[in-house]
Amino acid sequence: MLDDAKSTAVLAGKHLVLGVTGSIAAYKAVGVLRALRDQGATVSVLMTEGATKFMTPLTFEVLSGRRVVTNLFDGHETMPHLTLAEDADAVLVAPATAHFLAKAALGLADDVLSTMLLNVQCPVIVAPAMDGEMWTHPTVIQHVEILRARGVVVLDPEVGPLASGRVAQGRLSAETTVLEAIHTAVFRQADWRGQRVLVSAGPTQEPLDPVRFLSNRSSGKMGYAIAEAVRARGGEVVLVTGPSALIPPSRVTTVHVNTASEMADALSQHFPSCTVLIMAAAVADFRPPMAASGKLKKQGRSEIEIALEATPDILAMLSARRTSQIVVGFAAETEQVLSHAKDKLVGKGLDLIVANDVTQAGGGFGSDDNAAVILSARGEQRVFGLMPKRRLADEILNAVRDLCLMVPRGESLVE
Ligand code: CTP
Repeated sequence: MLDDAKSTAVLAGKHLVLGVTGSIAAYKAVGVLRALRDQGATVSVLMTEGATKFMTPLTFEVLSGRRVVTNLFDGHETMPHLTLAEDADAVLVAPATAHFLAKAALGLADDVLSTMLLNVQCPVIVAPAMDGEMWTHPTVIQHVEILRARGVVVLDPEVGPLASGRVAQGRLSAETTVLEAIHTAVFRQADWRGQRVLVSAGPTQEPLDPVRFLSNRSSGKMGYAIAEAVRARGGEVVLVTGPSALIPPSRVTTVHVNTASEMADALSQHFPSCTVLIMAAAVADFRPPMAASGKLKKQGRSEIEIALEATPDILAMLSARRTSQIVVGFAAETEQVLSHAKDKLVGKGLDLIVANDVTQAGGGFGSDDNAAVILSARGEQRVFGLMPKRRLADEILNAVRDLCLMVPRGESLVE
């Protein structure tokens, strides 16, 4: 695809802003700039003060054919943080330092690049480069999570030899990866525009007493990734989420619930106005019929019996009430994954089911990755090996689009 793109100057007419920050990998930004220019893009380069210690603005000026902005007050252009932000089709920050990630996550604006980022409406892609210890530092992890939740595409750095001499994850992503991310952002698929998608995520908590509850290991990552993917592809999202530590994606209507019964109420309320339901939540199957009003005391007992009643099967209930909605379920299995998933697909009257083996190493609850088999009511099957949940989210959306007769809708329903 890249070769084709190069030969057809696929980025002709596009204006990209390239932000360069103070990392030793700043020299690699030159290669990225050349590739973008080869593909026909107009590129405006912004450099932080740190970046100018590694590379001279003149290098980027010659290769971009445009004046490089290093300072909010350099006098060549009035308010470059506003004009560039307005014109840009995408902003790429490569390399991005840990310091830059922190500033962007917190909204600090003490130089031209960070100030511009507070003004942009276009897609932002960030390619970090730093030492491995820094990339895995909890503060950096948190900042990356915040940025991703806001829709910024943060490319994972690669593993390899670093400037420190160590081998670790911290190398700037390969040029092809960066260019691919730019293409995806600039030619953002809008194939879900006009769809109003109801997504459930996370676990439910069923109270036993005021301090204890029954729950499960779901983190919400899969459902949140689906919500983010739908937004990125132009759809609207109502996200009904059980308790989760994650930050909901931006521009998503989020409803927080605790119990299966609250989740059923919230989903029932939004279901009639939606075109697709994707039920990624791990709903508790059983609950105490009534939570004790006071804390259950030990009182010298060596064991305790707790009566449980079944919760409503929300998915089956909504599927039975559907008018024209597409209904997608998940099947979390530990054995006979496909046959159990098929039973659920048929039994709950679904269009599609995403089956995963939650015991698989590296996937399942809490993990960033997942492997899955997608089965459709018409017997089609798509198999996916372990991949990031955000990528699997896109594959699930592709499958819904291709296999469920999703009605294309030209424009958004409410925007
Ligand atoms: N589900 C639901 N309401 C429930 C239980 C499950 O809506 N009370 C949904 C889940 O969100 C998922 C699908 O049903 O999309 C299958 O859930 P799963 O936990 O895999 O299976 P169960 O139907 O609960 O059956 P079992 O626990 O026996 O595997």
